[in-house]
Amino acid sequence: MNNTEFETKDNREQFKSRFGFIMAVAGSAVGLGNIWRFPYITGVHGGGAFVIIYLVSIFIIGATIALTEMAIGRHGGSDVVEAYGQYDKRFKIPGYLSMIAVTVLLSFYNIIGGWSIYYFIQTISGKLTGLDAAQVEAVFGNFVSNSPQVALFTIIFLAVNTIVIIKGITEGIEKVSSIVMPSLFVLLIILVIRSVTLPGAKEGIIWYLKPDFSKVTGSTFVAAVGQAFFTLSLGSGAMATYASYLSKDESLPSATASTVIIDTLVALLAGLAILPAVFAFGVSPGEGPGLVFVTLPSVFGQMPFGTIFSAIFFVFFFFAALTSSISMLEVSVTYIIENTNIDRKKAAIIMSIVVLLLGIPPLMSFGNWSHIEIFGLGLFDLYDYFVSNISMPLVGLAGAIVICWVWDKEVTKDETTSSGKVEFKLFDVWYNLTKYVVPILLIFVFLTATGILRI
Ligand code: PHE
Repeated sequence: MNNTEFETKDNREQFKSRFGFIMAVAGSAVGLGNIWRFPYITGVHGGGAFVIIYLVSIFIIGATIALTEMAIGRHGGSDVVEAYGQYDKRFKIPGYLSMIAVTVLLSFYNIIGGWSIYYFIQTISGKLTGLDAAQVEAVFGNFVSNSPQVALFTIIFLAVNTIVIIKGITEGIEKVSSIVMPSLFVLLIILVIRSVTLPGAKEGIIWYLKPDFSKVTGSTFVAAVGQAFFTLSLGSGAMATYASYLSKDESLPSATASTVIIDTLVALLAGLAILPAVFAFGVSPGEGPGLVFVTLPSVFGQMPFGTIFSAIFFVFFFFAALTSSISMLEVSVTYIIENTNIDRKKAAIIMSIVVLLLGIPPLMSFGNWSHIEIFGLGLFDLYDYFVSNISMPLVGLAGAIVICWVWDKEVTKDETTSSGKVEFKLFDVWYNLTKYVVPILLIFVFLTATGILRI
């Protein structure tokens, strides 16, 4: 290790408070996965039955890997590549893979973040008021296929992200997350109250939460694990990178528990904010983009004071997307700062340009390039497939191997208990799960998600 590297390590910033760290990590976790994926897949996979399976997945696999990744990151005290490869250089490969994947993820996540700004503006200027579903669908279609306009909003969204990253860990990420996350929660509660008190909301609550075990199949379990991974930002380097800025004295197990609880609560509440409203207006919930950008606006358009609730919703959506995007950009920015002489500001700008260029194919896939398909997938879906189905499970698996098979057990124990300073009663349970159970489950999930194994 040369001197400059030493210097960077000594001057490394740290989160100022535990609260700030948890808000940042929860900010990374709470995102589109909670808002447009969770409510819908819950409804499709048997409502309450799925919720039960999901809760088991998130506590057994999600929390386990979240702790694993935080421990790897904090122990490394550097970027994600260094963290995975600290005792065995070969494991730098999953480090690189996660950095590439999270950058690809950011390139299309940004686009959706930009959509929320556009929709917010449309809402407050009254352009969505009183439209029926077909009209909102037309608004959506016209907007997303107008690539230069989408590019403009993508750039605005990314610029906000870049500014936060330039400000750094405490003044940027920690400060923004500590303000945004509690506000996001308040906005969500307002939306839930509005939604469940609408006449006819009951049907939506039933569709969402009533257990229907007949819909549970093998693929339900895979969907639950996949969702647990995505929603906790696992296999992406985000958790490892954030934890590398956490003081050695803080308890990782309790930070993990808080994150998992907040994320799960927000996912469940997001369903309650969206689905009862959708059913109250007699529409059936669409999936993904359709649910948030077509169905919901038409529901808001017909609701008394709908404009206000719609505006609240898109601010909520923007906040959730922003704090997740920040954590994605920080992964590569940290890597550049640690490994080159480039400073934070330049690194953030360079990476933003990379992200924008990478985002051109998914952006155009809603416009002129909509006919392009690779492996039977459109460009947007192809990006998502690579990140969610291939890279994330592989990196998750690598994390479990690193911490239980590469590291000495004592090292792992020291890191997760802050050298004995914090209590971690479940250490043995966690260790054995990570060592034996989780890798097998992840291999299974990977094989099914990629279609190699059919169930
Ligand atoms: N957890 C985020 C969500 O639910 C997505 C994410 C993945 C964020 C990976 C950071 C890293 O939307």
